[in-house]
Amino acid sequence: MDRFAIEGGRPLEGKISGSGSKNATLPLMAASLLTQGVTVIRNVPELQDIRTMAMVLRVIGADIILENGTLNIDTSRCNFWEAPYELVRKMRASFYVLGPLIARFGKARVSLPGGCALGPRPVDLHLKGLQQLGCDISIDSGYVVAKARKLKGSEIRLDIASVGATGNLMMAALAANGVTLIDNAACEPEIVDLASMLCAMGAEIRGAGTPQVEVVGPAYLNPVEWTVIPDRIETATLLMAGAVTGGRIRLTGCRSDHLTIFLDKIKEAGADVKVEDSSVTIDMHGRKLGAVDVTTAVYPGFPTDLQPPWTALMSLAEGDTVITDSIYPERFTHVPELVRLGARIHKKVNSAYIKGVDHLTGAEVMCSDIRAAASLILATLAAEGRSNLMRVYHLDRGYERIEEKLAALGAKIQRISE
Ligand code: EPZ
Repeated sequence: MDRFAIEGGRPLEGKISGSGSKNATLPLMAASLLTQGVTVIRNVPELQDIRTMAMVLRVIGADIILENGTLNIDTSRCNFWEAPYELVRKMRASFYVLGPLIARFGKARVSLPGGCALGPRPVDLHLKGLQQLGCDISIDSGYVVAKARKLKGSEIRLDIASVGATGNLMMAALAANGVTLIDNAACEPEIVDLASMLCAMGAEIRGAGTPQVEVVGPAYLNPVEWTVIPDRIETATLLMAGAVTGGRIRLTGCRSDHLTIFLDKIKEAGADVKVEDSSVTIDMHGRKLGAVDVTTAVYPGFPTDLQPPWTALMSLAEGDTVITDSIYPERFTHVPELVRLGARIHKKVNSAYIKGVDHLTGAEVMCSDIRAAASLILATLAAEGRSNLMRVYHLDRGYERIEEKLAALGAKIQRISE
């Protein structure tokens, strides 16, 4: 298992470019199953989660090559409609193949994801929506078994604006006869990217990026070449690394319009932020971090995936902060680790109450999920002295070549394989 040895307390300075979005790429990969032929996806981050999704698609029969950030997915010979537990338990987003498999084969057998470090993450909305489209759904030995002779366009109201359910239902509805309305759909940029690729493939989808999405079926789709949007979560995390260390960094290849609330919040916290075309510069020289409360919400609200790194940032802000996660009330495993570095945080229900300290001190800390790991890497970069960041495989799931990017900004960080 790899760990990072970090000498903290150095301001990060310089310019780097961001990667393509993991959470946009994963559903795009699943969408390749909706057509027969070679789908080409560019700007793909080379991450463990992308490799896991590639394994899921290989089980289904796809031929996949990932080289220099480009995925070639040949789905001509797909002849299997199952996603096994061994892969789905490693990465819940594997569940994205359910909709496309139903659309392509009229049947699917996909493992239920099971437990998650973020707390309970049910898939009931995916299943309820599929039933409304006419799927017969049962659970057998931990697997969702879906059968659909004929799918029919329907009005589906999601109780929660779930990203995964919106994506899965959008893809399944492409095989239904008639129009499907997804009401209270997720508006996240990753959903817009998926809908845009599906439209480029020949689908008719209206309203993506709003709470009412209409899908016209049945659609006959052709393979396309597509470029993934920049990773808004990586962008914000790297900008916070600049802010928490009191440095100045410029990030290129990013979409500031996907980060409006975050950029407002970090300016409010005292950072000087400059946005140009596809770059964002953050400057903390001569500035002090101030406390800014956040409550996570669905897009365009403050993303839950930025809550753990924001908690690290606020640990070093002047004053008291309250951070509330309304999406995943249990997503606070980073808190006790931040406390080991000297942060003063008290967790109650779904909120972290922080009393800012003027410095953190290096220690050995343990990553427990992708974004908790991001929180800890920020805190250890800011902490004085040496830290050991354990279980960095969580970072490898979601942040492409993170140690190289941070080292290019002047961080003293070393990967140690044991
Ligand atoms: C996506 O997960 C992201 N994953 C997550 O990123 C992100 O945290 C989450 O959206 C919220 O923004 C990918 O895009 C691959 P949801 P998803 O369905 O689609 C509840 C990361 O670190 N819910 O929008 O699984 C659910 O429990 C990851 O990169 C139901 O109750 O999230 C949660 O409270 C982690 N029933 C809320 O909705 C359902 O059927 C939002 O979940 C589905 C969801």
